[in-house]
Amino acid sequence: MTDRTIRALLIEDNPGDAILIREMLRDAGRDSFLLERAERLEAGLELLRREAADVVLLDLSLPDSQGLATLSTVRANHPMLPVVVLTGFDDEETAVRAVREGAQDYLVKGRFDGSLLVRSMRYGIERKRVERALQASEERFRSLVEGLPVGIFIVQNGRIVYQNPEQRKMFGPMPENFEVAAFRDVHPEDTAKFAALCAAVSGNGELALDMDLRFYPYGKSSERVDLRWVHASTCPLRFGEQPSFLVDMVNITRLKEMEHQVILREKLASLGHVAAGIAHEIRNPLSGINIHLSALQKILEEADGMGAEARLQADRVARQIQSASQRIESVIKKVMEFARPTAIRTDLADIGRAIEEAIDFSTVTLRKRGITLDRSRLGPLPKCPADASLITQVIMNLITNAAQALERAEGDRIIGVASEVRDNRIVVCVSDSGPGVPPEIRDKIFDPFYTTRQDGYGIGLSFSRRVVTEHHGALTVDASRWGGAEFRIELPLGNGREPAGK
Ligand SMILES: Nc1ncnc2c1ncn2[C@@H]1O[C@H](COP(=O)(O)OP(=O)(O)OP(=O)(O)O)[C@@H](O)[C@H]1O
Ligand SMILES: [Mg+2]
Repeated sequence: MTDRTIRALLIEDNPGDAILIREMLRDAGRDSFLLERAERLEAGLELLRREAADVVLLDLSLPDSQGLATLSTVRANHPMLPVVVLTGFDDEETAVRAVREGAQDYLVKGRFDGSLLVRSMRYGIERKRVERALQASEERFRSLVEGLPVGIFIVQNGRIVYQNPEQRKMFGPMPENFEVAAFRDVHPEDTAKFAALCAAVSGNGELALDMDLRFYPYGKSSERVDLRWVHASTCPLRFGEQPSFLVDMVNITRLKEMEHQVILREKLASLGHVAAGIAHEIRNPLSGINIHLSALQKILEEADGMGAEARLQADRVARQIQSASQRIESVIKKVMEFARPTAIRTDLADIGRAIEEAIDFSTVTLRKRGITLDRSRLGPLPKCPADASLITQVIMNLITNAAQALERAEGDRIIGVASEVRDNRIVVCVSDSGPGVPPEIRDKIFDPFYTTRQDGYGIGLSFSRRVVTEHHGALTVDASRWGGAEFRIELPLGNGREPAGK
């Protein structure tokens, strides 16, 4: 800095003071100062616009501006420029306020000499340089923290005093200075873990924690939507000079979903194996029972000396046995179907046609039950790699479920089938105006053998989800626009995209 020429701008209307300062600088700094002067604020600002300066010496009382307003105008136009204020000796109070409002220093006219002036200017420049460097480094760190794909929040005295954007995205909008322990949207099974986290961030528990945690966005637990899985860890730190805790959270929802799918698939595979074995073992004695039953019915028909009442009773018992055996047979059939490994053919399939076939199969049933089919949202679909007959089965399952749900419904009975392409995926929705799926069982209905229907097997949806997942797609449930259920099939289009009908 010492061997560099300092460009200073003096904004001063008094010619006597200006001469004095020029002389001081000449004597004190020899040629290391380049001084320009303006008599009015406007002229000074014009000079600064044309040419940069290292420091401004500013008289606060100018013909076109008075007092602290003079300083604020300069600072508003050049916030990074160091300003040394010059004031009359009777106005030291204003000078002190000027420093408070951003001037680097002040000098009282008639009370400073060359060396004080030079020191003040150099000091002002250096301080501003440090301030700039600090600001740049702060901005660098801020943009780093704000851009991190990891959620970060800082807790002081049990309250959240900072959240980065990723964290805000995970928590959803929540009040300022929120008290961590007042967060009510944790998954019921993780409340103990969350209590440990709250203890940690209020300094009452283990200071550094590490855990997987489930929660809903702020205020959303009653709807049970958008469950998030996060990996959270805590550590103590000082923030704004105060003891605080940093909590970072990585969103692992996708990972957990995939893990769940893998576990479910393994479970299904082994379940399928066992089920197929049992079904096979039951089938043989069952056919034996059926043969013996027909024989028994025949004997009864031909038996003499049996009273009419006794014959009726025996007949009723035989029919009951027969219907029970039919039910066992149909369970076995379903289980065998379910357990059979499905080899997916992934030719380019016309999903639009698969939908039409499923609708065709269901039309008569729907008409008989007084259900209106809404096809108004069926859009054209390109072909995609899929096994069309399996997709038809899935859509039929969904339509059948919807029709069964509508048996319990009052008012209009509507089933809507919709299709569209979105984000390079084929989306097919089957929705109904029935009672809907209560949020608390939305996770369960896709599990094998989960049913709420008396004559249900609980196989339809688990089979359907397995088929869709094997197509690398997704089958999910939500509420429909009529307040009932909406099942959504998403199938990736892949690269073999081709318009329908080719
Ligand atoms: N459209 C719907 N509206 C309301 N609840 C539904 C709907 N579809 C399915 N469910 C719920 O999901 C459960 C599981 O459905 P899933 O199709 O797997 O089995 P199911 O219909 O009971 O028996 P099945 O094996 O004969 O299909 C149903 O018992 C029902 O509680
Ligand atoms: Mg079903």
